[in-house]
Amino acid sequence: MVDVEREFVMVKPDGVKRRLVGETISRLEKVGLRIVAMKMLRLTKAMAEKHYAVHKDKPFYEGLVKFISSGPVVAMVVEGKDAVTRVRKLVGATKPGEAEVGTIRGDFGMEIGRNVIHAGDSPENAKIEYSIYFKESEIIKNVLPDETWIYE
Ligand code: RTP
Ligand code: MG
Repeated sequence: MVDVEREFVMVKPDGVKRRLVGETISRLEKVGLRIVAMKMLRLTKAMAEKHYAVHKDKPFYEGLVKFISSGPVVAMVVEGKDAVTRVRKLVGATKPGEAEVGTIRGDFGMEIGRNVIHAGDSPENAKIEYSIYFKESEIIKNVLPDETWIYE
């Protein structure tokens, strides 16, 4: 079995508002990552607090929670070899001004608090994050290395 990794990705409210959902999905798919779960939803305050729990002592925490729950988002689990590293490369640096041209934030990010996309920073954190949004049974499994999908 190929050693695949799961990554959690979210198009933030600014990305949805600016119609960047398709662009984001397209960039992920084009490098060979597979979407194995996806939903559009609006986060409750409790979900947002859980999502950003690692930042709860930061001065920007309140603003983050408020913004991420301010409108619909698209949450996804993507899978592939080295998915976390590869997604973080596609996403680019946190501050859009520091993100390389060609990355999602470098091309579309407006400012640090409006940087279009969230992605897990490790496989462990990705799992903690996607578990807020998806039951294990909602994640597609049994994708064979030759890309044949098994529907059970
Ligand atoms: P993300 O978690 O959203 O994928 O982004 P990241 O790992 O690149 O950045 P992180 O340090 O985890 O910060 C999470 C989000 O908080 C906002 N932020 N604001 N005002 C500030 O100084 C500040 N610092 C971070 C950003 O929207 C960042 O994506
Ligand atoms: Mg982060």
